[in-house]
Amino acid sequence: MRPSVELPLVERFRLLIARRLGLQFEDAKRAWLADLLVRHAESAPCDIPTYLARLECGAARDEIGALAQELTVSETYFFRNIEQFHALRECVATDRLRARAATRCLRILSAGCASGEEAYSIAMTLRDMLPDPSWELVIHAIDLNPAMIRKAQCARYSSWALRETPIDMQQRWFRRDGSNLVLDDTIRAAVRFNERNLHDDDSEWWPSDFYDVVFCRNVLMYFTPQGARSTVARIARALAPGGFLFLGHTDTLRGLSQDFHLRHTHGTFYYQRKNPRESAAADAQPEDTCLSDVTSPMISRSEEGADDWVEAIGKAAERVRMLTAQAMLPSSRGTASSAGCDSHLGRVFDLFREERFADALGLVQALPPESAQAPDMLLLNAALLAHSGQFNPAEAACQRLLAIDPTNAGAHYVLALCCEAAGDQIGARGGHQRAVHLDPGFAMPRLHLGLLARRSGDLDAVRRELGQALLLLQREDASRLLLFGGGFNRDALLALCRAELCASAGVL
Ligand SMILES: C[S@@+](CC[C@H](N)C(=O)[O-])C[C@H]1O[C@@H](n2cnc3c(N)ncnc32)[C@H](O)[C@@H]1O
Repeated sequence: MRPSVELPLVERFRLLIARRLGLQFEDAKRAWLADLLVRHAESAPCDIPTYLARLECGAARDEIGALAQELTVSETYFFRNIEQFHALRECVATDRLRARAATRCLRILSAGCASGEEAYSIAMTLRDMLPDPSWELVIHAIDLNPAMIRKAQCARYSSWALRETPIDMQQRWFRRDGSNLVLDDTIRAAVRFNERNLHDDDSEWWPSDFYDVVFCRNVLMYFTPQGARSTVARIARALAPGGFLFLGHTDTLRGLSQDFHLRHTHGTFYYQRKNPRESAAADAQPEDTCLSDVTSPMISRSEEGADDWVEAIGKAAERVRMLTAQAMLPSSRGTASSAGCDSHLGRVFDLFREERFADALGLVQALPPESAQAPDMLLLNAALLAHSGQFNPAEAACQRLLAIDPTNAGAHYVLALCCEAAGDQIGARGGHQRAVHLDPGFAMPRLHLGLLARRSGDLDAVRRELGQALLLLQREDASRLLLFGGGFNRDALLALCRAELCASAGVL
């Protein structure tokens, strides 16, 4: 960090960036932020406190744009994650065309559009899908970075930007001009670009129930948790009920929203806004999906501010540790009843550890109804039922939990185990993939995906999934292994992984 910049000023700058742009920077980036602060104050020109004060009072709108050019990552290309465009064409658009038959207009938003490749890819994908010329397709595209918006409006690209573009699309929609490829006016005309900040709650961009589809890919990952949550809330509001949201491959809504179902088609995940009725009645059973090849019930999160389940299970494990420690003290033996539900849970975990699943199940099922409906108890119940081979009630318990907390990766995992038990490999693979998508650090679904791949002879997938499982198992939370390890401890699961990997290597 430059010696001339005091740490409190850099912190003020970092806070301001988080508040105005929603962007998050770690401590390791402080020196870089200090350098940026000095350069921008010098070119303003003013001293650093004055520069910060101007930004804080919201006077320097252009300056926010100038900062955005340096603070944001604008990597993009045409047809990035092409399977999402297949899903857009074959499931999402057909669904929305049906829903909009009366108004004959589809409205799409590319939020964080960078230099326009995403919005134009949407336009190329949907171009021939409108039933007749009376239909209108409007694609709005917004980005914070003014340089990116200018580039998008020029619609001139290097061939590198078209590296994933199907050849027929290249031939149909681009013409060469020197070393550039220029996009056809028909596609350009379908997209309206605007410089906008996703963190401004601007009613012009976020009218209620307005968009049919929103793409917000590879944007949320740079946001603060609060920034991501408020952006997703804005998107949910602006999407028509039943409208769709595409996120980047590494983004999930876990912990961010309870307003969406998770959809899984064409080897990709995306989200569909629930009807307000469904959002309100979180304790209702999930509805059947409206898309024929969708395999997932739904996704979102338990009550706002509630712990996510990893945390909940972590806390439960902590309670168990405390209870176990207490139980070791002779004077406290026999007094566990005062701890009520906690002692119950402690006993359940003990029985779990001893692999006395039926006894543990008996205890969970003896809980008063108000405790039995708590998400961690439902999960415990579902896991115990699955461990005891009672797959139908386990599945029902998972569905009850998913109706309350659809982002519960553990419930998707147990549901996948039920599918495995029923010989439904496709359903099992889908469930494990959902669990991994929701919680990329969850080792057990990776292990199962590896084992399923081995059964179907997909050696690449065996290596990929078991390799990941091997890494994740080493640092997997102990309580999760206890809950989901099927009675195997960490060492046994690691040994299983290694043995399966060796066996698959022998096949090569
Ligand atoms: C990595 S690009 C993603 C481009 C495209 N969505 C894709 O997935 O290929 C991220 C874009 O988000 C934009 N962005 C970041 N924060 C933003 C904000 N608060 N408002 C609007 N755009 C933002 C950046 O300027 C950048 O162009």
